[in-house]
Amino acid sequence: MTLLSCRNLTKSYAGVTVLHDAGFELRAGEVHALVGENGAGKSTLCRILCGITPPDAGEMQLGGRRHAPRSRHQAESAGVRMVMQELNLLPTLSVAENIYLGALPRRLGVINYAKLNADAERAVRAIGLRDVHAAQPVSSLGIGQAQLVEIAAALVTRCGVLVLDEPTAALTTREIDLLFAHLRRLKSEGVGIIYVSHRMEEIRAMADRITILRDGRHIATRAVNDITHDETVRLMVGRDLSAAAAELRPESTAGARRGAARVAMRVENLHRLPAVRDVSFTLREGEILGFAGLMGSGRTETMRAIFAADRADSGKIYLGGSPEPVRIRHPRDAVRRGIAFLTEDRKAQGLLLPSSIQDNTTLARMGSVSRLRFWINRRAERATARGYIDKLSTRCKSPDQSVVELSGGNQQKVVLAKWLFRDSRVLIFDEPTRGIDVGAKFEIYRLLRELASGGKAIIVVSSDLLELTAIADRIAVMSAGRLVETFDRGQWTQEKIMEAALSGYTSAAATSMAAAGRVESV
Ligand SMILES: Nc1ncnc2c1ncn2[C@@H]1O[C@H](COP(=O)(O)OP(=O)(O)OP(=O)(O)O)[C@@H](O)[C@H]1O
Ligand SMILES: [Mg+2]
Repeated sequence: MTLLSCRNLTKSYAGVTVLHDAGFELRAGEVHALVGENGAGKSTLCRILCGITPPDAGEMQLGGRRHAPRSRHQAESAGVRMVMQELNLLPTLSVAENIYLGALPRRLGVINYAKLNADAERAVRAIGLRDVHAAQPVSSLGIGQAQLVEIAAALVTRCGVLVLDEPTAALTTREIDLLFAHLRRLKSEGVGIIYVSHRMEEIRAMADRITILRDGRHIATRAVNDITHDETVRLMVGRDLSAAAAELRPESTAGARRGAARVAMRVENLHRLPAVRDVSFTLREGEILGFAGLMGSGRTETMRAIFAADRADSGKIYLGGSPEPVRIRHPRDAVRRGIAFLTEDRKAQGLLLPSSIQDNTTLARMGSVSRLRFWINRRAERATARGYIDKLSTRCKSPDQSVVELSGGNQQKVVLAKWLFRDSRVLIFDEPTRGIDVGAKFEIYRLLRELASGGKAIIVVSSDLLELTAIADRIAVMSAGRLVETFDRGQWTQEKIMEAALSGYTSAAATSMAAAGRVESV
């Protein structure tokens, strides 16, 4: 039974058509995946279905009746809900208030906070969120936790159609498994689910049908069982990627480059309780050091403490083999010392959204340039921005386009370009390929390796073990705030990494996590 259908949907922005005559049908009780490269039009299509963006042309039907929501609220009243790609929570409100924003339980006109918090507490537990309290402000959450709160908010009210735009980008396997359990239940109740993701293994596990978009056009809709992974990718990108994929196979990557290389950074006894406990490691020039671990194991917090985005309780950082530790009191100091940090949360920390691609790419280096030189350099900067646009195949009109107008994955590419362009000795990347399409991922891996070969020292924090095993020379594993083990290339296996990642937790917690599946997405 068709639940929701759309036909001939067209949308242009300032003369650029981003959706051409697109359409598909969603059946009751199916998970329908929407796939395509960064900028293919997936989020635009979802926003139209959910009343957030008005289409220029086209029709939609919901349950046999015309569906033309003029606001998100109208779409929700008709039973169409969305979890947006760019998180949409109100940071100053509590977790509970965010979850029940549309339907705050009231008693005699005042909000019954006891009930609100109890209900919200149940909703966040159900989605697998631990260590978060309903009364806590959303601004205090990490990005993965915020994503779970957003999902919990979408699940508390009944709906007929649920649209999820990259809901798992910041989640770990355990949380993804829980989300999938919820989706299976909704499916059995007849809810139609539209699922946007760049993670093919999730789509193969969860979806019934796949619709492929390319350049805003509908390319194909197939049952998952009738289309292979390679064929899906080929239809998405319009070319064959198997050569790039072969290059990525772990055994074919260059062996360890360590050994003789000089020390770029040494971290000694770093503490920031409770998240970071006595972390020490050495990073050498020319190597990529991967950081694996569960969400909340302290990887991001360690990097933030090194960069002085958070203040460490204690610990020393040495740069370039110097016997004297450096004082890093502020991210500015870190940048001046040649440390770059690509954060996992691009929206809050990585980008100036209203500014142009060009300014975002070159901004971080402008501090050292005088005003006069700045103007002279303008052309060079434009060329730089254009170079990265080509290298990363960023979909945009020109380097002058405002970043706010780019699709999620293309914004991520601009953040990457910004840090790649900086002349830093140590580059820290937290989840560098989150939200990036399959084709562009390979470009990013290649760029990272190029940088390492050029002598840069690189740290990559990633929840994607396949990614780490493909690009890292060594993998450090964190567990419950400690760096528990470091593996050299050739020594690691998925099982060994998982064992290390669980080792810091109590045996009961570890068992329940192990039972929930693998450590992180692979
Ligand atoms: N407000 C806007 N102004 C101008 N262009 C826009 C605007 N919003 C979206 N676009 C453009 O529409 C195109 C499609 O964007 P959309 O967000 O739908 O892509 P997507 O398939 O969701 O990509 P991703 O995988 O990166 O999330 C992009 O090229 C984007 O730059
Ligand atoms: Mg999108």
